[in-house]
Amino acid sequence: MKILVIGASGLVGGNCMNYFNKKGWDVLGTHFGYANDNTTYFNTLDLNDPQNGDVKSFQPDVVVHCGALTHVDYCEDHVDESFQKTVVSTQNAVKLAQESGAKFVFFSTDYVFDGKKGFYSEEDEVNPLSVYGQHKLDAEKVVQNSGLKHVIIRITNVYGDEIRGKNFIARLIEVSLSGEQAEWKVPIDQYATPVNAAVLAQALYLILKDDKTGVYHIGSTDYLNRYQLAMRVKQYFPSESFVIKGLTTEELNQKADRPLLGGFNNNKFISEYPEFIFSNVDDYLSAKLEEAKSNS
Ligand SMILES: NC(=O)c1ccc[n+]([C@@H]2O[C@H](COP(=O)([O-])OP(=O)(O)OC[C@H]3O[C@@H](n4cnc5c(N)ncnc54)[C@H](OP(=O)(O)O)[C@@H]3O)[C@@H](O)[C@H]2O)c1
Repeated sequence: MKILVIGASGLVGGNCMNYFNKKGWDVLGTHFGYANDNTTYFNTLDLNDPQNGDVKSFQPDVVVHCGALTHVDYCEDHVDESFQKTVVSTQNAVKLAQESGAKFVFFSTDYVFDGKKGFYSEEDEVNPLSVYGQHKLDAEKVVQNSGLKHVIIRITNVYGDEIRGKNFIARLIEVSLSGEQAEWKVPIDQYATPVNAAVLAQALYLILKDDKTGVYHIGSTDYLNRYQLAMRVKQYFPSESFVIKGLTTEELNQKADRPLLGGFNNNKFISEYPEFIFSNVDDYLSAKLEEAKSNS
């Protein structure tokens, strides 16, 4: 199978590229601003960008689109830029897939829901509260109306190993280990189902291998609010100089509204893959602790 992973310099794309390579698939990964040895430059905002690598002659069977502007509060104040980087970017990636008749994979979010219910299944009504959530939903529709065979995977609170270590858990571990004085304010009432990007890549591998289509919610087995998640990290990586303060969403007064009861119910995926084992945050943190000990 030939897979083009757009955004392979990021968390989700990087894990997909590594896992698919390991499984023997022919993978071409791309970066945008963060060049590295394993990826080629590709800009989804401009298919004619002269710097674009030759992704067309690769003739992929599947395009996995991971490029997006994921800064939710920034999107609220930069509506046009958010539209370009999520919706137009997806329209362009779809055009590229149409040229080779490739299947299309798009990653969406629980921010397409309003957070009144929580633990969402694929049939639940969408109702985004933020610009980011609305644009992810708009991009889902672009994919659904593309005429391409497609898979839409909704995910939230992704963590795991990545080149830049910029996800929430990775940054918490880094600050804890650094011994620097820090205070982070995190919400006590925003719940989600964190998922390891490596596990996500394994789930997508099965979905693609079996040529499945449609919407899948992938959310692992944890249901935690951000404060609980941060404190879980501190259990494994205690640090007196790093203070985690739990506040309500109202007290935090973030720019964009968030779904408070977010997260996903995995029933659809699990009913198709009953033997699939989802690892959880504790599994990841235990492994990271062992790694830190063996490096010290
Ligand atoms: N992480 C989460 O918790 C989460 C939750 C829900 C949904 N998602 C969705 O999952 C997808 C992947 O997220 P992620 O966490 O892996 O994000 P990420 O780590 O920020 O990666 C985003 C990737 O997109 C690339 N990119 C940015 N602008 C681009 C452009 N104009 N053209 C081509 N590529 C571009 C980036 O390249 P450079 O870094 O090289 O610039 C990077 O490789 C996104 O659609 C996101 O909305 C993520």
